[in-house]
Amino acid sequence: MSDPGSLAGARSLLAGPGPVCVLTGAGVSAESGVPTFRGPEGLWRSYRPEELATPAAFARAPELVWEWYSWRRGRVAACRPNPAHEALAALGRRRGDVTLATQNVDGLHALAGTREPLELHGNLFRVRCTRCRFRAEHPREALPPPWPPRCPECRGALRPDVVWFGEALPSEELSRGTAAARACRVFLVVGTSGVVHPAAGLAFEAKSGGAAVIEVNPEATPLSEDADLVLRGKAGEVLPQVLAP
Ligand code: OAD
Repeated sequence: MSDPGSLAGARSLLAGPGPVCVLTGAGVSAESGVPTFRGPEGLWRSYRPEELATPAAFARAPELVWEWYSWRRGRVAACRPNPAHEALAALGRRRGDVTLATQNVDGLHALAGTREPLELHGNLFRVRCTRCRFRAEHPREALPPPWPPRCPECRGALRPDVVWFGEALPSEELSRGTAAARACRVFLVVGTSGVVHPAAGLAFEAKSGGAAVIEVNPEATPLSEDADLVLRGKAGEVLPQVLAP
């Protein structure tokens, strides 16, 4: 657990004036029961991203990719926001100058009440067409096979509206996240291994813009060295303390 000095330092930074930008990763949802990617039980320990999370994989085996995303959707649908999501949502309600960007596709920040989180890697509960501009919510319950489902407008294959390896991030979300990182006074980075760019690069944008960077993570990451304050602990335990009004 973090030392009391760092906790107090983080509390006072986060209570002060000036915009706050938050970047979250899979670790913020770990205590909700959503698997992370790179931990001991992480998804990328049992599955190969190049077989499931690339445009080439979808072109080669769309049914397998749908099956995997349906399984993930089912797991996430059973999960609820945890005290970390809730503390971040309360921070956003309390002050109007918080921008939250997330790499997570689980939708738990919005479910906890964060308004308009910037979902840099998309959302498991949306689908889009591979052929036309059709986009829609995925129903909360599973869509049955045959997979992939077809676009109601052009009969093209529907795919999960998530970012796969080798794909660009949604430009609107990325540019708003970058602008918020550059303009903020405090940048809070929670539960990410900090190895997937460009999302992880937001911490460096913030740092070079003069922000104080606070990391919340039980483990060291490549971002730790550049952080001004490091809080070693679980997001669901640390954030309610650091963000309590
Ligand atoms: P990772 O699985 O790479 O990293 C999860 C991080 O959360 C690690 O640094 C853990 O130490 C930390 N962690 C674990 N439990 C935690 C807890 N209770 N509280 C706080 N932190 C905890 O997940 P991401 O960094 O989010 O991309 O991964 C980034 C991207 O890589 C994902 O969005 C996904 C993946 O491939 C795509 O699918 C495009």
